[in-house]
Amino acid sequence: MSNIVETYTNKFAKSNELYQKVRQVIPTGGHLSRDVKPFPVAVEEATGVIKKDLDGNQLIDYMTGYGALILGNSHPEVIEEVKKRLVTGTHMGTIHPLELEWAEMVKKLIPSAERVRFTGTGTESTLLAMRLARAYTGKHKIVKFREHFHGWHDYASPGAGITEQTGIPAETMTGTLVIEPNIDELSGVLESRDDIAAVILEPTGGHWGQYPIQNPYFLSNVRELTKKHNVVMIMDEVICGFRISKGGAQAKFSVTPDLTTMAKIVAGGMPGGAVAGKAEVMDQLSFELGSNRVDHHGTFNANPATAAAGIATLKILDRDPINSHADAMSIRLKAGLNEQLSKYEVKGHAHGVASIVHILLDVECSCDGYMCTLDHSEIARSCKTYSGAVKMAMLNEGVDMMGGIGFMVSGVHDENTIDSTSEAFGNALKALRADGIIR
Ligand SMILES: Cc1ncc(COP(=O)(O)O)c(C=O)c1O
Repeated sequence: MSNIVETYTNKFAKSNELYQKVRQVIPTGGHLSRDVKPFPVAVEEATGVIKKDLDGNQLIDYMTGYGALILGNSHPEVIEEVKKRLVTGTHMGTIHPLELEWAEMVKKLIPSAERVRFTGTGTESTLLAMRLARAYTGKHKIVKFREHFHGWHDYASPGAGITEQTGIPAETMTGTLVIEPNIDELSGVLESRDDIAAVILEPTGGHWGQYPIQNPYFLSNVRELTKKHNVVMIMDEVICGFRISKGGAQAKFSVTPDLTTMAKIVAGGMPGGAVAGKAEVMDQLSFELGSNRVDHHGTFNANPATAAAGIATLKILDRDPINSHADAMSIRLKAGLNEQLSKYEVKGHAHGVASIVHILLDVECSCDGYMCTLDHSEIARSCKTYSGAVKMAMLNEGVDMMGGIGFMVSGVHDENTIDSTSEAFGNALKALRADGIIR
């Protein structure tokens, strides 16, 4: 057993005990999207940027609810609003004032939001956006880019390395065309075909910018091409929305899509999501269209507790300099991580947009640390080779990173926390070298 695994197994012994029980009942050993070896850490409580695990270890949190908690865990103002709702009713079974207030906040912040409709998750948001696009154009195919993630429904799954045997019918798989995130390739597809309803993309690149969009004109080029060919442009802002700026990536990069999909921050850390966009596309949901309307259901869509959390979060983002603080902390973190790489003479670098930070090991790149310019196959190799070991070595040092090899920085990470994280990374590099994982 390597030293890193041994330290981990000892440090998180109670997590292991729980995991062994959970996997008898829940096939994935708990509700994780990725397999964490040898077992995941079990967390009992989380406040601000600190999580406490079952063994009483304190961990600096950079998962921040898979990016949902830009205000940190259990933000007091958000919790207060949710508490109030929990005692006044969690489901009204009809319309209620909070959904209007929530929709108006989304409209105020997100440039493309002429109309809004709430969903239960980000996956539901991309499913609904694709359906709206098909209905609007009368066409059927969706174009998505390799490595761009849009949830787990059947039309979002092609390109994720799965086969028909995994339960998705072949005819559904062919409803989505997966192409390289390359404007010439997109142009070729849109010129040569007349069955494309929509192009969907993550605006900072695949997997929350792990595979950055390297062409600075990519988004505006996609906008021009989709307009020219009457194809709906769907910007998937499930992660980027309210993070890249308070108006999302679309405000930051001044590109307005036809439809925007949201979840995570929009719902203030509670389960929920949203689709927003052009009135003429969104109004296909209207009951006035009778049997021609786009059908959409969801028992918990716009439920009052989620609405309360969403409104409180969006109001704070609108009022306070949360985004600029998180961005400044990310710049400090990237500098600290790069300093450790130089100190220990490890090849690699940190990059990322706004409050998102990714690390790449065993690569040489001379980019400015914003959108890494390395070939995507190099990025894939680095992430695949090192992400598990780096995550484990960092947990041993008291830091809980996101999957890939990355960090979601919040508005409540401060300079001390950031500097401790960089130091922890230096120790992790030493441990990785001692175990022969890096040179
Ligand atoms: C860009 C993007 N789209 C869609 C989704 C799916 O969202 P959810 O997990 O809420 O279904 C995610 C989830 O991480 C995401 O990152």
